[in-house]
Amino acid sequence: MILPIYIYGSSVLKKETEEIDSSYPELQTFIADMFETMAQSDGIGLAAPQVGKSIRLFVIDASTFADKKPELENYRKTFINPVILERAGEITCYNEGCLSFPKLHEDVYRESRVRVEYFDENFEKHDEWFDGIVARIIQHEYDHLEGKLFVERLSAIRRRLIASKLKRIAKGNFSASYKTKL
Ligand code: NI
Repeated sequence: MILPIYIYGSSVLKKETEEIDSSYPELQTFIADMFETMAQSDGIGLAAPQVGKSIRLFVIDASTFADKKPELENYRKTFINPVILERAGEITCYNEGCLSFPKLHEDVYRESRVRVEYFDENFEKHDEWFDGIVARIIQHEYDHLEGKLFVERLSAIRRRLIASKLKRIAKGNFSASYKTKL
């Protein structure tokens, strides 16, 4: 089922999230819905708060980068109760977007490598390093679980420059090719 995506200004994007365990009701259905919603909106990552659920879960799909990095063919992953244990590598800049901010793209600086402890959809525990675009997506989605939005990572000057754009989005003054909710 395709879920509506909550847009910037919705309080659920700033709400505290809770860890879940395998008894979480309809977990597999919810994960399938997350992947379906992400695919339908051409997203490369989607966090539970973006579909109105305050739980520590996100999904990523880096397969769109497989043309440059063949190892990312069918690269789809579920992260439950993730914890970023370490950030390393160099600081890189990337023009990020977010489904909760239709058509807004801004340069964001982040570390190029992260070590993450997380559970997958079968509640198997992992402790893994990720780099490049995958580390980028993970950090963006992880921020959502912390109630932190990518525009909060911009410089004060840049935020001031896009303030009116942000206001328009929060007022519902935007167009999106996917189902949204304010
Ligand atoms: Ni986002």
